Amino acid sequence: MENGLILGIESSCDETSVAVVKDGRKILSNIIASQVDWHRKFGGVVPEIASRKHIELINPVIEEALIEADIEFEDLSAVAVTYGPGLVGGLLVGIAAAKGIAYSQHIPLIAINHIEGHIYSNFIAYQNLKPPLVCLTVSGGHTDLLYFKGLGEYEILGRTRDDAAGEAFDKVARVLELGYPGGPIIDKLAKDGDSTAIELPRPLINASNYDFSFSGLKTAVLNYINNQKQRGEEIDEVNLAASFQQAVVDILVTKVVKAVKETGVKDVILAGGVASNHQLRAELKTKLDDLKVDLYFPPPKLCTDNAAMIASVGYYRWQQGDRTEYSLNAEPNLKL
Ligand code: KG4
Ligand code: ZN
Repeated sequence: MENGLILGIESSCDETSVAVVKDGRKILSNIIASQVDWHRKFGGVVPEIASRKHIELINPVIEEALIEADIEFEDLSAVAVTYGPGLVGGLLVGIAAAKGIAYSQHIPLIAINHIEGHIYSNFIAYQNLKPPLVCLTVSGGHTDLLYFKGLGEYEILGRTRDDAAGEAFDKVARVLELGYPGGPIIDKLAKDGDSTAIELPRPLINASNYDFSFSGLKTAVLNYINNQKQRGEEIDEVNLAASFQQAVVDILVTKVVKAVKETGVKDVILAGGVASNHQLRAELKTKLDDLKVDLYFPPPKLCTDNAAMIASVGYYRWQQGDRTEYSLNAEPNLKL
């Protein structure tokens, strides 16, 4: 059917999500089955568990997405699926489901880059938002700063050389035995802490490029914890969370402001799980207000992994005539 109804499928990490989106921006359903409870006790996503859970969940989630949207398979115009980056086992489950639907319904299969999906979550949330803009995508797997010139037209300004910003949050939370995922827990703890209490490095903050590096910061936190333990002194988790978060926020805000000044854009968008961070949002907003630049971030449900964002990119691709072959394979290390 040519009615602009796209089924999106997302299974790159630990959420099995299926959505129906009309015309790229109107969500009819966005079902997200999180596996976080199964991974929590391991302090991170266990790929083998993720693959098995995706297999169990994918069909019921597809069914629920269609029921909630009140449509049938026959009503769909195309199927869009994440093919990377992510965990190969999970990606393959989503791809197999998408191929089955596309083949049986004689509709196009459209392969989508997960990171591009995160960016488009802003276009769903803010219907009038248009490029040019600067986008910071910060998640458990990625830290990418982009100059977005038009739909589908990006220039990558910089990315992380080692750990992603969310990964740093998760690793620090793990050594402090705070739980998983670490970002929201540190975000909450940091509110009551003194962010100047513990001195931590801010790698590459003044570098002339837009690259990021978080592994040195994570190591500095580990060293601090080990030193305190050796001295028999207590670890002040609240101040450590606040100091660590301040360092991450300082780095991210500095690079975004530099990108805004260099490109002259009037809009900035945040995407990815770390875009939910309260301090990042607040400090970036203050800095951008001074420059008369607007900041957009998606609502919580569109910030973390979801299939609506995949269906949204899929719609624009479908309109442009993009079609993916059935030989499509997962690309765990796919870049933008
Ligand atoms: O985008 P996402 O759901 O999954 C991918 O990695 O693709 O992002 C998850 C990441 C995790 O590392 C999590 O700790 C982090 O986003 N995160 C946060 C917050 N909420 C989620 N990090 C900092 N502050 C938060 N409030
Ligand atoms: Zn993601």
